[in-house]
Amino acid sequence: MSAVPVPSAPRPPMLTLAEVGFRYGHKQPWALHHVNLTIPQGSFHLLTGPSGAGKTTLFNLLTLAQMPQAGSLTLMGTDVGTASRAARAALRRNIGVVWQDFRLLPHLTVRENIALPLQLQGPLTATHREAIDQLLDWVGLHPLANRPASSLSGGEQQRTAIARAVVHRPTLLIADEPTGNVDDGMARKILHLFTELHKQGTTIVLATHDTALLQSKQAPVLHLKEGRLLS
Ligand SMILES: Nc1ncnc2c1ncn2[C@@H]1O[C@H](COP(=O)(O)OP(=O)(O)O)[C@@H](O)[C@H]1O
Ligand SMILES: [Mg+2]
Repeated sequence: MSAVPVPSAPRPPMLTLAEVGFRYGHKQPWALHHVNLTIPQGSFHLLTGPSGAGKTTLFNLLTLAQMPQAGSLTLMGTDVGTASRAARAALRRNIGVVWQDFRLLPHLTVRENIALPLQLQGPLTATHREAIDQLLDWVGLHPLANRPASSLSGGEQQRTAIARAVVHRPTLLIADEPTGNVDDGMARKILHLFTELHKQGTTIVLATHDTALLQSKQAPVLHLKEGRLLS
């Protein structure tokens, strides 16, 4: 007897942008203009476009670092424009982000930076420490674990930022040029790590100029140009 398929309830999108606009000042041109985008849960998207197209600005909005000035952003079913501060903070804890400029805390060590997203959840457990050690190994930073972030090279900072972005197994992973400062071998390793997280259910949006990565990764590509998303 064959099993009767049970229709599953439609899952809400991970995020939806409707007519989103953002500019860095009233006299500035729109850095993002009329952006409409739906990212389904569990998807993997690449984002590309020339320098200045608005990729980092878009990520500032997706991670709630900044709020849209026009249109609406719905993240994990919550309209962020009307959500309370507490609700926005709760959403942020489910997001992992690798910033283009890393945004590490310079006076903290590599290990302490990586631990930050876990510490937002409460005191570190043995399982947490194990996860941190595994990631330190994966990105080859164990020998530097106790060095302050301010003493790291660009590539070392990027690897620390990647470990910090994934250590808490975020629901949504945003990565802005995450392979921009590492060699080809490490770039492949990072892409492999992201692919594994994606297989386990993480939704990923990855901005890149890396043509090798764009060609090797089978994933839909979003194109930004002058603040507009090309369809
Ligand atoms: N802090 C800022 N103040 C003023 N303008 C900015 C700022 N950050 C970015 N911009 C402008 O917004 C536009 C989009 O920039 P950005 O999002 O950084 O593009 P990308 O990441 O695609 O290179 C550019 O014209 C850039 O000059
Ligand atoms: Mg950028």
